Amino acid sequence: MYKLEIIGGPKLNGEVKISGSKNSSLPILFASILASGEVHINNTPHLSDVSTTLRLLMEMGSEFMLESDNSIVINSSSLKSLEAKYDLVKTMRASILALGPTLAKYGKAKVSLPGGCAIGSRPVNLHLKALEELGAKIEVKAGYIYAEAKELIGTKIYFDQRSVTATENILMAATLAKGKTTIYNAAQEPEVSDLINCLNAMGAKITGFGTSTLEIEGVGNLSGVAYSICPDRIEAGTYLLAGAITRGKVTVKNVKPESMRSTIGKLIETGAHISSTSDSITLDMKGERPKAVDIKTGAYPNFPTDMQAQFTALNAVASGSSIITETIFENRFMHIPELIRMGADLNLDGHTVYCKGVKYLNGANLMATDLRASASLVLAGLVAEGKTVIDRVYHLDRGYETIEEKLKILGANIERVQ
Ligand code: EPZ
Repeated sequence: MYKLEIIGGPKLNGEVKISGSKNSSLPILFASILASGEVHINNTPHLSDVSTTLRLLMEMGSEFMLESDNSIVINSSSLKSLEAKYDLVKTMRASILALGPTLAKYGKAKVSLPGGCAIGSRPVNLHLKALEELGAKIEVKAGYIYAEAKELIGTKIYFDQRSVTATENILMAATLAKGKTTIYNAAQEPEVSDLINCLNAMGAKITGFGTSTLEIEGVGNLSGVAYSICPDRIEAGTYLLAGAITRGKVTVKNVKPESMRSTIGKLIETGAHISSTSDSITLDMKGERPKAVDIKTGAYPNFPTDMQAQFTALNAVASGSSIITETIFENRFMHIPELIRMGADLNLDGHTVYCKGVKYLNGANLMATDLRASASLVLAGLVAEGKTVIDRVYHLDRGYETIEEKLKILGANIERVQ
């Protein structure tokens, strides 16, 4: 088991290259199930969730090879098994994305229920209800989802709650359905748009890009394609926050600023000086202590829940008080008790955290619990007095490619130890 050891203090300074998006790579890898040929995916990040997805697809019969440092060629055009097994699904909830494409292409799928995780029960009722509306017969038995459909028939799908992967599952299933499917109240996250772009490049007919109403005209089949994954806006936001919390100056490269407007807006509210080009963002605190900012998470384009824990760490050492409200997940506060152990003045009341900025935090031995909570502990360690040791770093490796290497480039005093 690896740990991260951080000696807090240095103002981060420098430039870091952002990797391809985790939450775009996963659906696009599963979309390869729909293609009748090879899919060349470029700018894929080296993350354990990507490896888990490749293992799951390989177990189903996909063949793939690493073409270069960040390129994968995958051929899932003739699966041997239509089952996504529990032992892999339990480690990564996004495995539910095997359901839509497998059902659409083969008329049958057996996918383990993902179960909950640290941040919540993570139900999949929206996925299953929508697939039934497309004509699938769905049965849940002994922890598995059994889905069957001789043919999926296009229809109108109304999501009464925005769901990223439910939107993605239905998008993928509808590409091969008979006739037209309209999805109302679809998620608009940039990663959904990236999947739409990739599916259309494979021959799908999807319109409504970037809106909450998507129309999919079913087609006979989808072909292989070469596609480049969009940048990871959450990784980029996390490194900008590392610059803000240490009062330094950080540039993130290979990003799409237009997909980060709510995060950038909040960073400006903390007093950060922000400048950007078409593919980079520079944050400069000019040595100033950040000001506290109120946060309320919501579906895109509102403030992303995946940045809430990181901003809570910033508010913990900012000047002034702040209120942080999490509206997406029921338990995305696993970082709170750990930050309190470092000396943060945080009060959790239901879905809201009341925060009073303190002058400094003390380094401590901490336990990572989920991906973004772990990121917030790293940010707190960068600015805390003394040494912070974070255990169970595998949580971080799910969504941050070589985090300690990138932070070292920015001047952080951080080591990965056994
Ligand atoms: C995606 O998760 C992301 N994961 C999450 O990123 C992100 O936090 C989340 O969207 C934001 O909404 C991937 O894209 C792989 P949801 P997803 O369905 O699709 C409820 C990270 O850190 N819901 O949009 O699983 C659900 O419980 C991860 O990178 C149902 O009730 O999230 C939640 O309260 C964490 N029934 C809300 O909807 C369903 O059938 C939004 O969840 C589905 C969801």
